[in-house]
Amino acid sequence: MLGIESSCDETAAAVVEDGTRLLATSLVSSAAIQAQYGGVVPEVAAREHAMAILPVVDWVLKEAGLDLADIDAVAVTQGPGLLGSLLVGVTFAKTLGASLHVPVIGVHHLEAHLYANALMAPIEFPALALLVSGGHTSLFYWQGHRDLRLLGETQDDAAGEAFDKAARILHMTYPGGPQIERLARQARKKSFKLPVADMHGRLDFSFSGVKTATAALYREHPDEPEEVAYALQEAVVRALVQTVKRALARYPVGDLYLAGGVTANEAIREAFLHLGAELGIRIHIPPVSYCTDNAAMVASLGYYQWQAGETMGAFEGPKVLFPL
Ligand code: KG4
Ligand code: ZN
Repeated sequence: MLGIESSCDETAAAVVEDGTRLLATSLVSSAAIQAQYGGVVPEVAAREHAMAILPVVDWVLKEAGLDLADIDAVAVTQGPGLLGSLLVGVTFAKTLGASLHVPVIGVHHLEAHLYANALMAPIEFPALALLVSGGHTSLFYWQGHRDLRLLGETQDDAAGEAFDKAARILHMTYPGGPQIERLARQARKKSFKLPVADMHGRLDFSFSGVKTATAALYREHPDEPEEVAYALQEAVVRALVQTVKRALARYPVGDLYLAGGVTANEAIREAFLHLGAELGIRIHIPPVSYCTDNAAMVASLGYYQWQAGETMGAFEGPKVLFPL
C-alpha cells in the first residue's frame, strides 16, 4: 500500500505492507516557509505540495526497493484539511490509481492518526483513543477497525492551537508546540498555575480560556516566558489527563492509545505513562516522528479500509470538512 498525505503543510509518502509493516517513508515539510508568515498560508502550502509530491513518492519507492508496478493499492488523505493541499494529494493518488489499474482508498486524516499505533503492534480492542492535534482534541471509544465512537471533543480551540497561539503571544514562530516545550524545560520556579475549564463531568475539552489566561500571565510577568510556557503546558496536560481519567472510570478498558502531533510532547507522554502505571492499564504512544503528520498512518488505515472493500468512487474528491 502506497500512502500519501498532503492535508496541511507536510507532503509525505510511505509504503506499508498488510497495514502493519512499514517498508519506507519520506516527508517534505513546508513548515519553515510557513513560519515566515506566522502560520500556514493555504496557497503557499498547495504550491509546495505540487512541487514536492513527485520527488517524495519517487524517494519512498527507491527507499523500499520497489517500483510502481509493485504497488497493490494507493491510500490518500481525503480530508479534513486545506482544499488546495488535499487536491494535490487526491488528484495525484487518483491519477496513479487510474494509470496502474489499482484501487484508491480515501482515508480520514484523524482516524489515520490513530493508526500510527497499528504500525507498532496490533490494536487491542476495545480501547480508548485520545487524538490531540493542531485542529482537534477528541476522545474515542475504539471498538474495532472502522468502529470509532466519539465520547468528547474540544468545544473551542484544540490543544495544539493553544500551544500555537500561546507561542505567538510569547513572540515565537509556527508551529508553537515544540518551541513551548523547549522553553518550558528552562523553567525553574514552576509556581504559576493556570486554570483549566470545568466541563461539568462531560468528556469534552476547552482550551480557549487557558490561551487567554496565558496572555494575561505573560503581561504580568514579561521577564519569565519560560515560567509562562511551563504553566501553559502543565495546564494542558492536567486537562487532558483529568478527562481521560474520567472516561476510563466510565469505560474501563485495558488499553489507551494516544495520537496526533501534540502527543510528541514529552510532558504529555510522561503524564499518560504515569496514569497508566497508576491505573494498571497499557498506554500506547507512537514514536515522536509518527505522532505528527506522516503517510505511514495513512497507508495503515487504508489497508483496513481496502480489506473492508471501501474504495474511492470515480467522482469523489477531497472533503475539506469530513465528519468522522
Ligand atoms: O497532528 P499534527 O501534526 O497536525 C494536525 O493538526 O493534523 O499536529 C500539529 C500540532 C501543532 O499545533 C503543533 O504545535 C503541535 O502539534 N505539536 C506539539 C509538539 N509537536 C507538535 N505540541 C506540543 N509539544 C510538542 N512537542
Ligand atoms: Zn495531523
